[in-house]
Amino acid sequence: MILDKFSLKGKSGIVTGASQGLGTGIAQGVVQAGANVILASRSAERLEGFAEELRQYDTEVLVVPTDVTQKSDLEKLVQATFDAFGKIDFLFNNAGTNRRAASEEFTEEDWDLILNTNLKSVFLLSQLVARHMIRQGGGSIVNTGSLMCVSGGKTIPAYAASKGGVLQVTKALANDWAKYNIRVNAIGPGYFKTPLTEALRQDPVRNRELSERIPMGRWGEPEDLAGVAVFLASEASSYMTGQIVYVDGGWLSL
Ligand SMILES: NC(=O)c1ccc[n+]([C@@H]2O[C@H](COP(=O)([O-])OP(=O)(O)OC[C@H]3O[C@@H](n4cnc5c(N)ncnc54)[C@H](OP(=O)(O)O)[C@@H]3O)[C@@H](O)[C@H]2O)c1
Repeated sequence: MILDKFSLKGKSGIVTGASQGLGTGIAQGVVQAGANVILASRSAERLEGFAEELRQYDTEVLVVPTDVTQKSDLEKLVQATFDAFGKIDFLFNNAGTNRRAASEEFTEEDWDLILNTNLKSVFLLSQLVARHMIRQGGGSIVNTGSLMCVSGGKTIPAYAASKGGVLQVTKALANDWAKYNIRVNAIGPGYFKTPLTEALRQDPVRNRELSERIPMGRWGEPEDLAGVAVFLASEASSYMTGQIVYVDGGWLSL
């Protein structure tokens, strides 16, 4: 039956960037759908607090403090997930960061930080997880893109480059790994209320401009990603790969 295909009961996987913001909405969705999950980010304390909330849903929720810019951390994360659950059915590459500055002033240090966090980690972690998925006979990888997968934004040259890259690596890996039954897709969130966008929301001019430009008339909440996260991780999307699903209150339609 169709609703059974959305179930993640008996499945297990990883959500990065799960200590706050969009990762919490994604993790909540997959846990409520029955999955066992490893929450990963740098802040052990915030992860543990959120894991405790999720344990009410009676699945296994574990925490692995991870800096996604450190390859050795990524290796430990994948090993810990395999040790805990014996398989890795899904991976959400969601950790990300941003810095804003006029492009003529943008520093090399910020460029490297953003590209390493938002793009390089997506490739490296996907590669590590895919090696397990190939042995298992398949899996689902879901990357968090952005409207900046297809737009340049203003004062965010590194972020825009990283998210353009996320869409391209999503397609490239989808092509290479389709033969292993590994699906690779992306979610493209519009403007969401998270700590990442706090400064934008505090700026009355930008806040009004952005809010008025969203056809649905409101910023997204992390829970607004839960449904699409479950869909992309589950069998319900079994013939879908190399795609991005925008969840933007209509932004790109305007
Ligand atoms: N909010 C939006 O409107 C929006 C729109 C489009 C796309 N996105 C994307 O959605 C994703 C999540 O963004 P958000 O809005 O939820 O941002 P956020 O509130 O700042 O949360 C970012 C998450 O990423 C983690 N993180 C950052 N750097 C990390 C690192 N080096 N290693 C491990 N984890 C790291 C943070 O945890 P720790 O600090 O604990 O490490 C946190 O859990 C990002 O990829 C972002 O680009 C957001």
